[in-house]
Amino acid sequence: MFTDLNPTPRILLGPGPSDIHPRVLRAMATPLQGHLDPEFLALMDEVQELLRYVFQTRNKLTLALPGTGTAGMEAAFANWVEPGDSVVIAVNGYFGDRMCDMASRYGAEVRRLDIPWGEVYAPAQLEAELRKKPAKLLALVQAETSTGALQPMAGLGELAHRNGALLLMDCVTSLGGAPVEIDAWGVDIAYSGTQKCVGCPPGLSPFTASPRAWEVLGQRKGKVPNWYLDLTLLAKYWGPERVYHHTAPINMVYALREALRMVQEEGLEARFARHRRHAELLWAGLEEMGLSLHVPLERRLPSLTTPRVPQGVDELAVRKRLLADYSIEIAGGLGALKGQVWRIGLMGHSSRRENVALLLAALGEILGR
Ligand SMILES: Cc1ncc(COP(=O)(O)O)c(C=O)c1O
Repeated sequence: MFTDLNPTPRILLGPGPSDIHPRVLRAMATPLQGHLDPEFLALMDEVQELLRYVFQTRNKLTLALPGTGTAGMEAAFANWVEPGDSVVIAVNGYFGDRMCDMASRYGAEVRRLDIPWGEVYAPAQLEAELRKKPAKLLALVQAETSTGALQPMAGLGELAHRNGALLLMDCVTSLGGAPVEIDAWGVDIAYSGTQKCVGCPPGLSPFTASPRAWEVLGQRKGKVPNWYLDLTLLAKYWGPERVYHHTAPINMVYALREALRMVQEEGLEARFARHRRHAELLWAGLEEMGLSLHVPLERRLPSLTTPRVPQGVDELAVRKRLLADYSIEIAGGLGALKGQVWRIGLMGHSSRRENVALLLAALGEILGR
């Protein structure tokens, strides 16, 4: 016989998942209804409305895909790429690299831009590439979880549109924790995940697409090659037709609705300010300890911080002690930054003053600083 499920309580200060408020956990335990029950369908409408608020959009096509953030990325490329389409992907970290792999699997001609991990793109760099040759999509990651850099997005929609491209943005690590202005920035396709600043367990991928993107999708020559993530089918389940597509992960939808209700109650501006305030406390504490931060202040992400591992320190041993002695989870570097930085997340319900204080004290003790 196996024992009862009894995981050690952790303080989740890594790149996600983040801690979950008890209200959201309670919502998950709400008795099920069927996925076509009129009451459940009404809740889905509310989730769409709340998602439009966090995305700051009026896009009709706004829904929660079944699956984690990667499902959103997959849906974006599966729906908008046809074999031979030219796609510009501006890479500055691990997730931009994943985008290139995914787009190429759908037959895109991938035109990959690269800059050092931790830097962000200037609009002129992106426009220069689009001017060389038309592209169907310009894709980038707003909040690179592998580096801790925040890509400025204002004006990029207009830039893409005047060059005939749609703008695709990954906002997995920003949604609910830093401004995401889908309509104001002219973003055509965006996806996120629930387990970071939205404050919900992993399992759904908030997704939105502009009327312009919807029109382009309608001009496809062939069917979307991924049945499960075909937005033309999914829109008929989330829209007024209510045509069965898949059995919705009911309890995850309950959880997302509660997490989004909490975002609405707090208010976006206050929520961003909270993420920023606690990030600033963390930055100051780390610097006081003599650690240097990989990303300069002006492009630093509030939800994810990347202190550089000091010379001679075994970064994995530090993480193991944080987990064993303090039950705190942080992460190591990914890809090009493996072994060079730690990744500390202050996202959603994890973004709390007491977490910052405990982490700084614990790190100070372990590093002897
Ligand atoms: C920027 C970014 N994009 C995509 C993903 C993939 O999301 P998931 O791991 O939820 O599938 C992540 C996950 O950390 C991410 O940080």
